[in-house]
Amino acid sequence: MSLEEALKMADKIVFEKTGQHLDDLQKAVLQGTLKRKRYRQIAEDFDYSESCIRGVGAELWKIISEELGEDVNKSNFRSAMERWQSLNNSNFAQEVVAISSFNICEKERHSPDISNSHQPKQQKSHPTQPTTPHQDLDEMPELGDFYNRTTELETLTTWILQQHCHLIALTGIIGIGKTTLAVKLVHQIKDNFDYVIWRSLETSPTFAEFQADLVQFFSQSEPQNSLENTQKSLPLIKYLQKHPCLVILDDIHHLFSSGEFAGKYKPGYEEYDSFFKQIEKLSHESCLLLIGWEEPIKLAQLKSKKTPIPILQLTGLDITSAKEILRDYGLTEIEKWERLIHHYQGNPLWLKSVATQIQEFGENLIELLPDNTILLPEDLKDTLQQQSDRLSKTEKQILKLLVMKNQPVSLAQLLETTQTSPSDLLNTLQSLCRRSLIEKQENLYSVPSVLREYYIESD
Ligand SMILES: Nc1ncnc2c1ncn2[C@@H]1O[C@H](COP(=O)(O)OP(=O)(O)OP(=O)(O)O)[C@@H](O)[C@H]1O
Ligand SMILES: [Mg+2]
Repeated sequence: MSLEEALKMADKIVFEKTGQHLDDLQKAVLQGTLKRKRYRQIAEDFDYSESCIRGVGAELWKIISEELGEDVNKSNFRSAMERWQSLNNSNFAQEVVAISSFNICEKERHSPDISNSHQPKQQKSHPTQPTTPHQDLDEMPELGDFYNRTTELETLTTWILQQHCHLIALTGIIGIGKTTLAVKLVHQIKDNFDYVIWRSLETSPTFAEFQADLVQFFSQSEPQNSLENTQKSLPLIKYLQKHPCLVILDDIHHLFSSGEFAGKYKPGYEEYDSFFKQIEKLSHESCLLLIGWEEPIKLAQLKSKKTPIPILQLTGLDITSAKEILRDYGLTEIEKWERLIHHYQGNPLWLKSVATQIQEFGENLIELLPDNTILLPEDLKDTLQQQSDRLSKTEKQILKLLVMKNQPVSLAQLLETTQTSPSDLLNTLQSLCRRSLIEKQENLYSVPSVLREYYIESD
């Protein structure tokens, strides 16, 4: 598709939506986009401020996305225009696409395979996902159904694009949706960076291995005769200082020891800490997003200008989204399940697991279950065990005590009843909160009901 054709197409779409044709500035932004220029370059070419050009771009993507009913942005604009053109060129083609996408959708909706849906690490990006030479997103999972998370996306976007935070942590209990949220975020903001890199640390690479991997990527992507002229590769931080980069490190809990408090580096992994310190303190335009069950324990010490490192501890989806997940699994009498799903606190993985079990037994199952039953399918127990296996001895003791109490317990009561020293007790509570395994409300500590049921059953 030529540049003129793409512009004509965009003009038609914008006109249909707004009743107005593209103005000169909008045309300039679209032309620049089609020529793969960055906003900054477009702004320089046309003597506008970068923020003005970004604003014009954002408004255009919104209009075009709404009109086409799909997420259109700077990186997929051309392919969206091409798709739209081919759909409009043939009614027959339109029908075929509509039918096939309906079928695919139905198949996915009824797929009960929770284990597959929760194995992003092995999944590769969709082969048609556009990747430019400066985006290494092969390890980023494909985005499936996505509900809500508007506030969380706004928070992360503000931290990254407006406040220019260098280091951010996204934590939360297993299956709560951290990776999925980050994938959505990357789709939304990736055009603001020269380099976007996604890595899972599931294989626990040492810092030297991790650095070598990323440096290799940078050196391959750098134009000839620049940095490589030095012959010797530079430390990773230099590349991050040279270009605005977004680096996502998923599954960072694999850098931390089992049997210790949350976020303590495994022996030999402290070099990551020095790297995170550099990221935080030095001057650059890059951002490192750390994702995992726990944040590094030393993160609190890494604050600059009196502001702590921003940490988003992710909680569950709202009840409407939880119901959508059940619907996706073919359940229809959703109201009946409201009391039960309440226990799963909007954890999408747990909901998928339970939905699969309900689906197998039929929706009449609810009439047979005693009130307040909490279902714990085996795959759900397996995931909970993975996280529980990492607890320290004192964490296990305090958790057991809280499970037995069956009601929120105050700090004063805990100090009275446990043998643990006050200092140890406070550290333990902090660590359990960081892992999202206990909840704290006004100095009262409790264990969420699914976890409580799990610990009672597995005792
Ligand atoms: N906003 C959402 N809407 C719909 N489904 C979601 C959403 N977020 C997550 N899911 C689904 O929930 C499951 C778990 O999500 P995800 O893998 O992102 O969780 P996680 O917190 O990264 O888990 P882990 O701790 O194991 O890494 C996946 O099947 C995912 O598709
Ligand atoms: Mg994950």
